[in-house]
Amino acid sequence: MRFDYRNPVDLRFGWDRIGEAGEVARTCGDRALLVTGRHSMQRHGFLDELRESLNAAAVEHFSFEEVGPNPLTGTVDRCADLARDEGCDLVIGLGGGSAMDAAKAIAVAAVEGPPFWRFAPGGGGDLEAADALPVICIPSTSGTGSEVDQYTIISNGDTGEKLGLGSDALFPAASIVDPALPSTMPPRLTAVTGVDVLIHALEAHVSQKANPVSDALCVESMRLLGRNLEDTYSDPSRESRTGMATASTLAGMAISSAGTGLVHALEHPVSGRHRDVAHAEGLAALALPVVEFNLGAAEERYSSAAHLLSGGDSRDVTGVLRDVLHSLDMPTSLEELGVSRDEFRGIARDALRTMGDAVEHNPRRADEEELVELLEASAD
Ligand SMILES: [Fe+2]
Repeated sequence: MRFDYRNPVDLRFGWDRIGEAGEVARTCGDRALLVTGRHSMQRHGFLDELRESLNAAAVEHFSFEEVGPNPLTGTVDRCADLARDEGCDLVIGLGGGSAMDAAKAIAVAAVEGPPFWRFAPGGGGDLEAADALPVICIPSTSGTGSEVDQYTIISNGDTGEKLGLGSDALFPAASIVDPALPSTMPPRLTAVTGVDVLIHALEAHVSQKANPVSDALCVESMRLLGRNLEDTYSDPSRESRTGMATASTLAGMAISSAGTGLVHALEHPVSGRHRDVAHAEGLAALALPVVEFNLGAAEERYSSAAHLLSGGDSRDVTGVLRDVLHSLDMPTSLEELGVSRDEFRGIARDALRTMGDAVEHNPRRADEEELVELLEASAD
């Protein structure tokens, strides 16, 4: 056996630890660009708490509070200019995957110079060789895993492309996972972020890059998902919120090592084209046909995943997945999401071009025709 495992993120996990942000930031720099979304972190007081903590640690900070879902490359460039103009030596991403991913991309563009899109395939930029400001991630959802991985998902509003880019430069220097933040999520957001965790753990577990470390992370993540996912949606408690925050971070570490697969490869072009579609809604619509396509190539792993996700009740992965997605009121087809059949060829091509690693790590290789067939099978 031969494998590599690397995760350089200094992780702090636990309730009410956002107040440690200043102390953590102090180890990284003294002028921070604070990147967050428009509403919830302000409304729940977490942004103020973060600012107080930075003030107490004498870390100056400048805010950009307008990151929307599916952050755009133009936003990244504007913030990178702001970071350069203000002489920032640190970026803090407070929020869901969008804020954290934007923070990571801004950290690269602040050092390397905009436009960030030159790191897209064919753009001429070399992200592997890029340098970045240190990033601190503070997730407000239990979903993306961005706080512990080397990926950023950035969209191009002009072309409809949604890229998953990976590089060591995109690992946060530090992250604070405080379950008090995701505990403020409304039920719908709890469901869609939870489904993202589920698909991360499942795809990493059957990935061709799976290894003993990622397996250990996936197994514990799926055990926690089996216990807590449906409860956090229907009747959340402190225990289930803690379980989901843990499951999310472990699954993030797992995909950081083992990658994802065809569900993610096909989903990015879907929500890249349909910006009102949540990442996990696309994942939910695609998951069952992809698992059926893969089943013969990873039967034992899917069976143990089903066992963990069902709390020991079942080894039928498609049955378990169908039940979980149904109980979370997730969409079951691309049609429900407004995706039409005449887009399928373009989506398949984009998946191969922009999500090549995920296609490659999937347990069963798929060509363009097979990707179109998977989209057909997810259509209605
Ligand atoms: Fe995801």
